Amino acid sequence: MPDKSFYVTTPIYYVNDAPHIGHAYTTVAGDVLARWHRQRGEKVRYLTGTDEHGTKVQRKAEENEVTPQEWVDTLVSEHWRPVLETLDIANDDFIRTTEERHRRGVQAFWTVLKEAGHVYPELYEGPYCVGCEEFKVAADLEEGTGEYAGELVCRIHGRPVEQLSEQNWWFRLSEFGPALLEHYERNPDAVAPRSAYNEVVSFIRGGLSDISMSRSSVDWGVPLPWDPEQVVYVWFDALLNYITAVGYGQNSGKELFANTWPADVHLVGKDILRFHAVYWPAMLMAAGLPLPAKVFAHGWLLVGGEKMSKSKLTGIAPETITDTFGADAFRYYFLRAINFGSDGSFSWEDMRDRYTSELANGLGNLASRGGAMITKYFAGVLPEPGPYSNADLVVQDLLARTVADADAAMLRLDFSGGIAAIRGLIDAVNGYVTEQQPWALAKDDDRRERLGTVLYTIAESLRAISVLYHPVMPSATEALWQSLGADALGPLADQVVTHVVWGQLPPGVTVSKPEQLFPRLPDEEE
Ligand code: ME8
Ligand code: MG
Repeated sequence: MPDKSFYVTTPIYYVNDAPHIGHAYTTVAGDVLARWHRQRGEKVRYLTGTDEHGTKVQRKAEENEVTPQEWVDTLVSEHWRPVLETLDIANDDFIRTTEERHRRGVQAFWTVLKEAGHVYPELYEGPYCVGCEEFKVAADLEEGTGEYAGELVCRIHGRPVEQLSEQNWWFRLSEFGPALLEHYERNPDAVAPRSAYNEVVSFIRGGLSDISMSRSSVDWGVPLPWDPEQVVYVWFDALLNYITAVGYGQNSGKELFANTWPADVHLVGKDILRFHAVYWPAMLMAAGLPLPAKVFAHGWLLVGGEKMSKSKLTGIAPETITDTFGADAFRYYFLRAINFGSDGSFSWEDMRDRYTSELANGLGNLASRGGAMITKYFAGVLPEPGPYSNADLVVQDLLARTVADADAAMLRLDFSGGIAAIRGLIDAVNGYVTEQQPWALAKDDDRRERLGTVLYTIAESLRAISVLYHPVMPSATEALWQSLGADALGPLADQVVTHVVWGQLPPGVTVSKPEQLFPRLPDEEE
């Protein structure tokens, strides 16, 4: 299908509170992936949004003495949309589950399943965790401690579960076990990383039970079309955002849907893997729709060894980090320091260290030295390179390998591997500057041609680096691109990452010293 977009999604986040860096982490990863694919010349659709129904959000509104609608409108406009600006996210759409397009799609979807016999009425009795918005089984619970001693608590939230007993509508999940297993045997990359794949397969092998798909005791949700006293269970409303946002259930949405669905990557945290890799594909099978190509479950940002969480109020607001370091460094740090798929802890010290050594002293210094020397020795006009020496060719070879390695890593969502490849090139070029000593060459008129070759090599390397790093650090690379006079080659965002080859920057363009790409941090005492 030539018009099919590369479709990448984040979870839609609960608006029970403002975003913390855990949410920012997933959203940044999705943005870097989306930008990388756009710069491969692909058509891309990047979706994020908010999950606004359910008990958790409803109770939060009640505590604050406003209606749920007022609560979600405020949270979305004051926090969830602005954080996208803060992080420099270039999403193509933002879906809210309270939107009409979504409600209509949810009702259409469940009507299809009801009519096909996948839904039936039954009593639900058992534990429910409002933190997870999930019906629990014994294995999901543990003995509480401290104020919750003697009670059963959710393993993820550490809070008591509630006993529910209500007449609900059920989805025949149990019927999809064999088909799901077959799907995952045939598509071993459909869940990543491997540990997540194994967890999903063993959960399905353990046997699937039918699952309640509606709630009668909740009224903040999408009413069931055939039983409006009940609302769709919040997860079975939320998961559908991935299709309602691309036209499902809307007459005018057919073409968009055909050109977008199925998703290429659903990015999720490992807390919500089961919903995305078991329930969601079963729902899609029941509706006769194609399954997403991949669900990638990344690890958790931890605080004191535990998952950072809104419910536990352990969240760090993204702005507290971007105010000091900027959005580029935020995006860089979390993808570089944590292997995507593993848990990681945030530390100010580690962030400061890497900012200083890798960004300010690494890339920032190379950019300012290169710009300053071309300004000083060639009046800001990019010199023509002479014959290339071995040392120059080593840089050129490394560039070719860097492009291939970075692309391969980004395609498998190994962000730290992709960044490591680009960083390797920066380190090599910094080493090249030290060895070639252009400031010494500049003292000798007979070596003017060699000086030009060295400075060209630095500038051309910086051009390549700005293309490759643009998906990760959109604004610093833009400043670098401008300082290199590289606009002669067109806008930075249009540069194709897989076509980065040596010798594109035309001699004669105006090069200047960039403003400090990564300013020195204020002293800790201040
Ligand atoms: O689960 N570390 O929403 P949610 C890393 N509405 N990532 C984290 C994180 C942490 N400590 N905390 C949150 C929901 N995240 C549902 C999703 S999707 C159809 C519905 C990120 O607000 C991570 O992506 O609890 C996690 O899966 C998601 O936020 C959960 O956000
Ligand atoms: Mg959560």
